[in-house]
Amino acid sequence: MKLSNSINDNMSPSQIYAEINRRQITAMMLHRELSVMFSFLGLQGFKRWQEYRYKKESDENIKMHFHFIDYDNHLIPDMNVEAIHIIPNDWYNAENLNVSANTKKSYVNRAMLEWQEWEEETKEVLEHYYMILLKQDKVCDAEYVMCMLKDTSKELKKLERCMNKLKLVDFDTVYIAEIQEELHNKYKKKMGE
Ligand SMILES: [Fe+2]
Repeated sequence: MKLSNSINDNMSPSQIYAEINRRQITAMMLHRELSVMFSFLGLQGFKRWQEYRYKKESDENIKMHFHFIDYDNHLIPDMNVEAIHIIPNDWYNAENLNVSANTKKSYVNRAMLEWQEWEEETKEVLEHYYMILLKQDKVCDAEYVMCMLKDTSKELKKLERCMNKLKLVDFDTVYIAEIQEELHNKYKKKMGE
């Protein structure tokens, strides 16, 4: 797993918050793309799950900005964020009704793996930031990062459970179709909370 070269023990809290902000914006793009992708594939449960993550992480991002202003009296430094694209270009000229079962299987596999790798890397990055802040005696900032770390671990745990089941059935499209309604209802309810 490749971690950002920019991680080092001398990072200031504002540099760490800026890096977290950049990562959160990328994460929002990832969940947004995956939500649209699953919608196109007709997988309403996976779509809702991603939509829920997108909204939840968007809320967390804006709350982090408010927290930093309240706590540090400054804005989080702005950094360039590279756009990510997961949906293949040729899908933009295709019709979703023509998506084959094999295509669904293959893209569910790829999308879920991509998501899992992203969250695993996020967890690792946050662990580094937590340790750096703690070493600098920035206990409150370290605790704030710890909350994010716990959220990421929870997200990852749910994803890993789903991935284990999907792997057990070799991403069987009948199984994938069967779990959509339950997931859809679960995340629709959670979004209403
Ligand atoms: Fe996420």
